[in-house]
Amino acid sequence: MNESNMTETLQDRILQLKEKRNATILAHNYQVPEVQDIADIVGDSLELARAARSVECDVVVFCGVDFMAETACILNPEKTVLLPAEDACCPMASMITADEVRMLRRRFPDAAVVSYVNTTAEVKAESDICCTSSNAIKIVGSLEQEQVIFLPDKNLANYVARFSSKEILPWQGFCFVHDRITTDDVMKVHSAHPDAKLLVHPECRAEVIDLADHIFSTSGMIKHVCSAPDKEFIIGTEIGILHQLERKCPDKKCYPLSSQAVCTNMKRTDLARVCESLELLKPRRTVPEEIANRARKAIKRMLAV
Ligand code: 13P
Ligand code: SF4
Repeated sequence: MNESNMTETLQDRILQLKEKRNATILAHNYQVPEVQDIADIVGDSLELARAARSVECDVVVFCGVDFMAETACILNPEKTVLLPAEDACCPMASMITADEVRMLRRRFPDAAVVSYVNTTAEVKAESDICCTSSNAIKIVGSLEQEQVIFLPDKNLANYVARFSSKEILPWQGFCFVHDRITTDDVMKVHSAHPDAKLLVHPECRAEVIDLADHIFSTSGMIKHVCSAPDKEFIIGTEIGILHQLERKCPDKKCYPLSSQAVCTNMKRTDLARVCESLELLKPRRTVPEEIANRARKAIKRMLAV
């Protein structure tokens, strides 16, 4: 069997199993194209968290990384949540522990703790509220405290601080995919495509953000490319997003800011793993009830803003 026949067979099998299991497949914008194509919903972290809360099904298949599947578990304790790639983790999420959050609370007792959703359930359980890249400014603005511990991403924290009069205390975590994008990358791509608008993700370094025309979450970029009058864009985030851009805005030209911007963890999910997880109903993700109950408060508070 050639590769495209194999892909078709796997896609058919996944569709049958989806029906049988009463399952919904959620995929992040960074997933490989064939996984995005079989998903019911493809989106950014906030859209997927909202979808995880509202989907009516027995099984949620999360094509993304571990913290996303954990969030789906926390919001749906009664559903089976599958993470087809058990080894898909977010290195930034492991840059802070619950013990470290407790230490920060002791050091800054008057500060609110805002956790990016790219954190473990244990860290969310120690937090006042969560945020994603698309609502971080709004979330910080919604707090009554004047001092805010923002974790774990220092770049997102510093970006939010540009829009806030509050004192933002950033943890020093970062996303290795976005943090390694440089101003040299910007110069090179800009000189090849001088008319293209530069869109970058707020997980990028401040000096890269300074050169951008617009800053957006992944789905924010897709919406902007589809609706803006401009024809060419340089996309400063993980390259998996280019597939959604081609699908949704085929009349626009999008160039990656860096072809090295690849999140290996996001690429661990493939059709074979999705199919196997629906077949066996594993690997299943669960979160201990006591942690889930506390983490749910921080996530729900975010969803209510
Ligand atoms: P968003 O899709 O929410 O912008 O997040 C990007 C990301 O790095 C997810 O891991
Ligand atoms: Fe984590 Fe960055 Fe990969 Fe997103 S792109 S999962 S933040 S390492």
